[in-house]
This record gives sequence, structure tokens and C-alpha cells, in this order.
Amino acid sequence: MPSIYLDNAATTPLDERVLEAMMPFFTGNYGNPSSVHAHGRNARVELEKARKKIASLLCVSPGEIVFTSGGTEADNTALLGAISAYGIQQIISSPLEHHAVLHVVEQASRRLGITLSLLDVDANGSVNLEQLEQLLQKNPRSLVSLMHGNNEIGNLADLAAVSQYCREHGAYFHSDTVQTVGHYPLNLQELSVDAIVGSAHKFHGPKGVGFLYINKAKKIPPLIEGGSQERNRRGGTENIAAIAGMAKAMEIAQENQEQHRQQVSALKDYFIRQLQQAIPGVTFNGLSGDPSRSLYTVLNVGFPPNEATRGMLLFHLDLAGISASGGSACSSGARLGSHVLQALGADPERENVRFSFSRFTTHEEVDYTVTQLKGLYPGQ
Ligand SMILES: Cc1ncc(COP(=O)(O)O)c(C=O)c1O
Repeated sequence: MPSIYLDNAATTPLDERVLEAMMPFFTGNYGNPSSVHAHGRNARVELEKARKKIASLLCVSPGEIVFTSGGTEADNTALLGAISAYGIQQIISSPLEHHAVLHVVEQASRRLGITLSLLDVDANGSVNLEQLEQLLQKNPRSLVSLMHGNNEIGNLADLAAVSQYCREHGAYFHSDTVQTVGHYPLNLQELSVDAIVGSAHKFHGPKGVGFLYINKAKKIPPLIEGGSQERNRRGGTENIAAIAGMAKAMEIAQENQEQHRQQVSALKDYFIRQLQQAIPGVTFNGLSGDPSRSLYTVLNVGFPPNEATRGMLLFHLDLAGISASGGSACSSGARLGSHVLQALGADPERENVRFSFSRFTTHEEVDYTVTQLKGLYPGQ
């Protein structure tokens, strides 16, 4: 039986060149970057090289990059830090955010009595930006957190428009860019944003490592207190092997970005056409069927109601050797359904599956998947 991986929004396979870049830190160069002796200094040199590389790919200065244990920690740090540093009175976000944002702002709002406004979204998951402007006019001491690329339905936000509103009204703007770092150009010289986050395992780097960009004019306190690592912005010995791997993965991603985008976009396009031919009545959730307004890596498919597969489609795919997902990997184990599809008012009778691709996904894998799906929907 084949083993087909169509869940790249959950995590991606490690690039072999990334593994190679990480290996020296497990053997020869094992010093603690905070130690002042030669072993420590050797590790420090590599740590700062990685920081410089990531900063240059985002067009920011190295001092604006803080290494973290991943996207979740980076989101928590940015949100809680901005709330405590800037006397935030209102948090504006959306019901489509990843739980690394949504649960943080919900809890902060409850604990600290800060107003939380979740913007309205339409049936396609487009966020109401007029409402954003109205809310900002009412209360300029706001924290705005809106994601760049949605991990479930792929919707891409207009970060330039959001940042413009935030700048006009003096709001702090954080964007969860976990699904777009490495996949889209992010020039932070052109885009006025106060904090963004990255997670290496979403672009063929290792798990458990990420970064937070914090605009130097909008400093925030650390979330994790401890030693003076990361210029007092994140306590704890840096995971130097993982950080070097992340820098390598980001370099590879950026160098070949246009080629990867074209390759994966063509594959997504092909999948859409094959599905439409094989299964009449198939739909695409959010904007994921629209190549210009969604991540090229994500396709969220709504299958027509079918007694034979009811509630079991992912299980049938798994039995056929295909790994896909019903939503975010972090909550799929909870079996509560997707909060994103619920916010869109998706039809509960339909079976929704997120397929997500990478540059390692092949046309043969797509063909096999469509054949299996056709077998599960024979009468359609
Ligand atoms: C949009 C988004 N934000 C945050 C995260 C969390 O990142 P990490 O797994 O590195 O904690 C994810 C991972 O699924 C994500 O897709």
C-alpha cells in the first residue's frame, strides 16, 4: 500500500540538507552559546549567523529576531507581551485564528477584563475590514491579531491593508505568519507590522523551533523568564541545532520560492480539476479553491453527503494509505470539529477534508488519492 502524505499544513518532512546543517551541533560544536569559553563562542557564532540569515530574509535587523520553541510560543509571547507593555484596552482578532492566538486572546480578555472583538467573517471566511476600521476608531489602544494564511481553509489576508489601518490608528499589529513564512516573500521593510512569527517545521525544518520578529520600536517583555539569553527576551538555552536547521530551511525555501510556488500551485490546480471531474457536487471551503486568494499549499474540500462514508472519510483515506486532515492537527484529536468551518457556517452534513501539499507531493499521489475518493463515492 502506498504511503501518501497530504497533511503538509500540519507539518512538513525535513529537507535532507537541513539535517546535514544540524548534525555538527550534536557532535563537534556542542557548546552552550552563553558560555564565554571557546566551545561556547563557537556555538554563539553559529547562533548569530542563523539570526542574521533569518533577519536578512525578512529584511529586518538581527536584533529584531528572538528564537522560540515554535509558533505557539512566539504567538503567546507577542500577544501577552503587547498587552502588558502597551496598556491595551481592546483586542481585535478573528474567529478563524489558530488556537495559538484564539485561546490566548480569549484567556487574556477573561483574566484582564480587556474587550475582545472578533471580526465578522462571511461564508468564504473573508474578514470584515470595515468593521476593523470602525473598532480602531472607537479605541485606538488596540491590539490587532490577524493571521496571514489560514491553516485550515488557506485564506490569505491583505496584510498591507490591515497594517495601514493599524498605523493610522496607532494600534499594535501582530500577525500569525506560520503558514506563509518560507512560502511567500515577506519584506518587513515594506510591510508595517509590529510582530510576526515563524515555525520551522512548516517549511521543511525541524519541529520545536521557531522565531518571533519584534519591531525594535515596539519592544515587549519576555514570556519566559530565566537567563539573559536572546538579549533578555527569552530565557532558556537556545536549541542551536534546531535553530541552524531553521535558518537553512528558510534559506532553501526562499532561494527556490518562485519555482516551488509554481510547482505546488500547478499540483493544487490539477487536484481541483481531477476532483471536480471525479465527484460531482464537490466544493471547496473558504477561498481555498481560488488560487489568487488562498495558500497554494492548502485545499479544503467539502464532499457531498454520503451514507457509506458518513463521519468516516478520513478513516477510509487512512486505510488507503493517505494521510489528510479534518482541520488543524492541534485540535483534530479533540474531535470537536473545526472552529474555522463552524465560523463559516459550513454544512455539517458534508464531509470536509483538508489536503495540504508540499514540493515533495507528486501528481501520481494526487491521481491515487482521486481514484480512492472516486471509489468511496461511486454513485456520485
Ligand atoms: C497558523 C498557525 N499558527 C500557529 C501554529 C503553531 O505552531 P507550532 O506548531 O510551531 O507551535 C500553527 C501550527 O499548526 C499554525 O498553523
